[in-house]
Amino acid sequence: MKNILVLHGPNLNLLGAREPEVYGKTTLAEIDAALVAQGRERGAEVRCFQSNHEGALIDRIHEARGWAHGLLVNAGGFTHTSVALRDAIAGVALPAVEVHLSNVFAREEFRHRSLISGACVAVVSGFGAASYRLGLEGLLERLAK
Ligand code: DQA
Repeated sequence: MKNILVLHGPNLNLLGAREPEVYGKTTLAEIDAALVAQGRERGAEVRCFQSNHEGALIDRIHEARGWAHGLLVNAGGFTHTSVALRDAIAGVALPAVEVHLSNVFAREEFRHRSLISGACVAVVSGFGAASYRLGLEGLLERLAK
């Protein structure tokens, strides 16, 4: 049984209503429910956490030690700014997959740089809500090896 912590950063609680032309119409609750169901099918327990606060995300990563086998992380805007979040991911030494709904490389230049990627084993960006599904699939496959 693998345990996966899914982290959603700032403004992702607004999914469904927030810039739907960029992020789609799927809500965060729908994404979380799909990930929990996908995990169950694959014999994994998935827990999801969203916060608009950097420290709360870092605390949750620390708390995952001893429970989680891997992390699925959409850090939202903190992707491009947060050394502390990157350090937290690296600090717990859990395999992490970075996820983005949008293709950050096709957007503004300030989104092209991720401070998180270097602490992650893989990045999935641009498949809309499906980025989470693909990211979880890849993470579970890696953990099964
Ligand atoms: C995002 C991309 C980020 O640049 C942005 O700040 C977000 C969402 C995405 O999922 O596409 O909040 O992480």
